[in-house]
Amino acid sequence: MRTQVGIVGAGPAGLLLSQLLHLQGIETVILERRSREYVEGRIRAGVLEQGTVDLLEEAQVGARMRRLGLVHEGIEISFRGERHRIDFRALTGKTVTVYGQTEITRDLIAARLGAGGKIVFEAEDVSVHDFDRDRPKIRFRKDGRARELVCDFIGGCDGFHGVCRGSVPQDALTVHERTYPFAWLGILSQTPPVSDELIYCHHERGFALFSMRSPGLSRLYIQCAPDESLDQWPDARIWDELRARLGGDAAAALQSGPSLEKSVTPMRSFVAEPMRFGRLFLAGDAAHIVPPTGAKGLNLAVADVRVLARALAEFYASGRSDLIEAYSDTCVRRVWKAQRFSWWMTSMLHRFPGRNPFEDQLQLAELDYVTGSKAASTALAENYVGLPLQ
Ligand code: FAD
Ligand code: PHB
Repeated sequence: MRTQVGIVGAGPAGLLLSQLLHLQGIETVILERRSREYVEGRIRAGVLEQGTVDLLEEAQVGARMRRLGLVHEGIEISFRGERHRIDFRALTGKTVTVYGQTEITRDLIAARLGAGGKIVFEAEDVSVHDFDRDRPKIRFRKDGRARELVCDFIGGCDGFHGVCRGSVPQDALTVHERTYPFAWLGILSQTPPVSDELIYCHHERGFALFSMRSPGLSRLYIQCAPDESLDQWPDARIWDELRARLGGDAAAALQSGPSLEKSVTPMRSFVAEPMRFGRLFLAGDAAHIVPPTGAKGLNLAVADVRVLARALAEFYASGRSDLIEAYSDTCVRRVWKAQRFSWWMTSMLHRFPGRNPFEDQLQLAELDYVTGSKAASTALAENYVGLPLQ
């Protein structure tokens, strides 16, 4: 088998890369370890920056998002039992859109398959070879048979646990990492959101987030221990905890219902650089992970892919390789800014077990300052709605 760009992973990064290259007349094949049903059912990110929305429109997959996406002009931050609004529209002129990663994935898969694009689901034992030479290869097994895909370039879009990053000689990569002493327990529930906007709650029992997917579907998270067992969290206990952390009249108004999905997400900051090794490009979670408090992971994956698609399109159109050579530097600068923001939001909003009470007071002072000062709330808002794309 032969293609121009071989892509490992059919998450948002791999699918969008394939779609953007297709629109430039460049052929791709995507190899995905999981089934289509599994990939389309995975519940993950929910908040899109304006730049992400614009790029999905440009990629001609914006129709359902335009119809079903919820435009949010701000968020609320709750602490000491009071809620404070950060008005993105007033502070930055921009908004964000709530539209699930699940829906983006479905839209992209439909667009790729509808245009005759090739996605190999349930590809086993995927491995990448010869990307330090002119003709990289991807080997895999499908239906028990060994196959080889020869290509010009490889898009390593296989997420944090993929094979691509680990295939780069380890002395060629610098890894920066931080783990946090907590995780998020998330549920999806067919109940109306408690508020029209997201509420980020600082509370002495731990952080909570009230998010949504649609007017009838809530997505809720509570801070828990990193090794938390779901067995200890029947739905009723989760709702009690959400009510306790939300407080006030809203707690009484919070409608509960059975969870449709329940999962624990560990919190990690991680950057591997450079993001290119020869003809292998890492994009999205394969190269970097942020804790979800800043809602940046999916948006960063999309920003990487935008840079990569342009670099490859330039190469095929004119033979110029300067954008390819600049790929890692261009992406990594923005990645670190999103790392900083995600780390900061995480540090400001979570309870750190066993911490000096002095630091707890500093955290409250920071929340007071961020919600009380126009300069400080503008800094939060401009990062949340998304820093300019390159
Ligand atoms: P992935 O979505 O992980 O896709 C990688 C794909 O590669 C997967 O389909 C995987 O099956 C496949 N794969 C892996 N290994 C192999 C292999 N060996 N061979 C073949 N295929 C392979 N981000 C935001 O921007 N906003 C949010 O609000 C937000 N909230 C989040 C909430 C939660 C609970 C979680 C877990 C994440 C959240 N994120 C958020 C982060 C966001 O979901 C990720 O950053 C995003 O999925 C990255 O996309 P990706 O395509 O790089 O990787
Ligand atoms: C979500 O709706 O899943 C979500 C929203 C905001 C975040 C993280 C996750 O910061």
